[in-house]
Amino acid sequence: MALNVVMLGPPGAGKGTQAERFARTHGLPKISTGDILREAVQAGTELGRIAQVTMDAGELVGDDVMIGIVGERLKRPDTERGFVLDGFPRTVRQATALDEIMAGRGALVVVDIVVPEDVLLRRLAARRICGSCGVNALVEWTTTCGVCGGSLVTRTDDGDGIVRGRLKVYHRQTRPIVEFYSARPSFRVIDGNQPPDVVTASMDRAICQASAVPGPAKAAGASPDPVKPGPAKEVPL
Ligand code: AP5
Repeated sequence: MALNVVMLGPPGAGKGTQAERFARTHGLPKISTGDILREAVQAGTELGRIAQVTMDAGELVGDDVMIGIVGERLKRPDTERGFVLDGFPRTVRQATALDEIMAGRGALVVVDIVVPEDVLLRRLAARRICGSCGVNALVEWTTTCGVCGGSLVTRTDDGDGIVRGRLKVYHRQTRPIVEFYSARPSFRVIDGNQPPDVVTASMDRAICQASAVPGPAKAAGASPDPVKPGPAKEVPL
């Protein structure tokens, strides 16, 4: 049975970090729409030119473009055993389109990572990425990337004003999809304000449990298994 995972959460919640870990452990492709767009920007393609302006303004790239990109990516054979989607869907329209793309391909396990806003702001202000390969820097990397040796830089959309704009866009356009998914038996909420390894372990448990639950027809009336976010605290990676 395919393991089709969708990661939800505001900017800085740890979607990318946890998607990478889960995908690696379970041998699944991680499909990050933010990474796809940043690669297009680096490659200087037409998509990259459109995406750069939108991303640097903290706004969302158009639904038709994003649905087209993800629809094509999910046709590739490496997704037959499942996938981990990071950053898509981000609007109700994208979520509806994903349901259509997934018709006959098994249920989605949807994980919403919850982190208090003050912690998100601190994480994004502190984040450095590799200017060459784009990976998030680990705390022990001081000036250069531990993967490729590239220089560490600030992500262009992590400036304070842009981050606050991204959070507003999240609440206005993306948060409604939590409502869209929350009644499904395979929806889970994870406390993302814990050390990364603890989040990884909670996610692993939640996804494995959710992927074993019966589909909506058999489990009508089943309620999700929410985990309340903990108090604000920051932890080193
Ligand atoms: P995208 O790249 O998806 O950005 P985002 O959703 O804003 O998410 P981030 O990458 O900022 O955060 P994250 O939750 O992945 O956290 P991370 O693991 O990196 O999208 C960028 C832009 O592309 C959008 O604004 C939009 O313009 C466009 N776009 C993308 N998809 C789109 C779509 N579907 N439709 C339309 N437009 C789209 O962690 C963040 C930091 O916190 C890191 O430094 C990390 O090391 C640290 N950290 C992670 N976990 C922990 C932890 N548990 N404790 C302490 N630190 C942690």
